[in-house]
Amino acid sequence: MLILSSPSQLQLLEEMLRKIHSQSFVVCGAVMNINRGNPFDYEVIVDSWPEFKAILTRPRREVPTDDSDIFANIYGAFYRDQDAYRTLLLESDAVNWSQCFTIRGSQDGIYEASLNAAAAKQMRFSSASYIPYLSPDPNKLRECKLDAGFRLSSLNHSHVDLLNETWPYGGSKQSHRYLAKLVRCFPNICILDASGHPISWILMDPFGSGAHSYTLQSHRGRGYASALLRSLTMQASTAGYLWYSLVAPENIRMQKIQEHLGYQRLPDLCHFCVHHTV
Ligand SMILES: CC(C)(COP(=O)(O)OP(=O)(O)OC[C@H]1O[C@@H](n2cnc3c(N)ncnc32)[C@H](O)[C@@H]1OP(=O)(O)O)[C@@H](O)C(=O)NCCC(=O)NCCS
Repeated sequence: MLILSSPSQLQLLEEMLRKIHSQSFVVCGAVMNINRGNPFDYEVIVDSWPEFKAILTRPRREVPTDDSDIFANIYGAFYRDQDAYRTLLLESDAVNWSQCFTIRGSQDGIYEASLNAAAAKQMRFSSASYIPYLSPDPNKLRECKLDAGFRLSSLNHSHVDLLNETWPYGGSKQSHRYLAKLVRCFPNICILDASGHPISWILMDPFGSGAHSYTLQSHRGRGYASALLRSLTMQASTAGYLWYSLVAPENIRMQKIQEHLGYQRLPDLCHFCVHHTV
């Protein structure tokens, strides 16, 4: 197991992952963020270098995190060889098994390895799967027109309570801390009403994905989420990101928004494997 720390290694890794983005988008997004200032304090673990067969991205070990916080302890995974991934997961100290954590990855072997590992380590296991949508060339994104008079802006710390109240996984101190860190570290975009309160917004997450899209109930169906997704996609693309979104299979409205804008739906689901210590 190796921690890739030199900028030239990380740049080369990003170039390799960009070529296989439709399979590697989770770790590719994490590496893109690391290579653009690493605001979330992540690091990259590989089984070998440069001919890697498995990769995990994780919070840097030097930065202490709350052991019970699944939002703070999120790993990204990708493999070319499933056995190499299993070995990296189970037979190295890449993962801190004394913490609650989530592993994200779009390959079924990542889900299987997590399920088996959780049984072997006697951890409680839960999971959710999402449909990945890859952004097209931003010049091919369908136009979205907003009513005149709306102000595009950015979220700040004063808006985090609202984000935490409206996010289905929010409501806790840990989710509040996570959302505050996203707002602080990554680009986001929102629409403010006449009194300066956000009515629709979208954020970027540590894996280079569009996330937390939300429009207040009384403002839905006016094209706000579509316009913000388009704007943040353009902004991310200008900063050199290959952009994507993850949408729950039951969220038909958000799927339609992605497809309407010209995003490409991938056939395989992306898994969030959650390991609980209790
Ligand atoms: C999903 C969600 C963000 C969509 O927000 P929104 O601002 O209503 O989205 P839009 O207005 O851009 O698009 C929604 C629909 O309105 C339609 N629409 C767009 N502009 C419109 C307009 N001017 N007038 C009427 N309808 C319009 C869109 O075509 C789309 O229709 P469809 O569902 O038939 O495809 C919102 O429903 C929400 O906050 N849901 C809960 C959180 C959530 O699911 N977030 C996504 C996580 S991945």
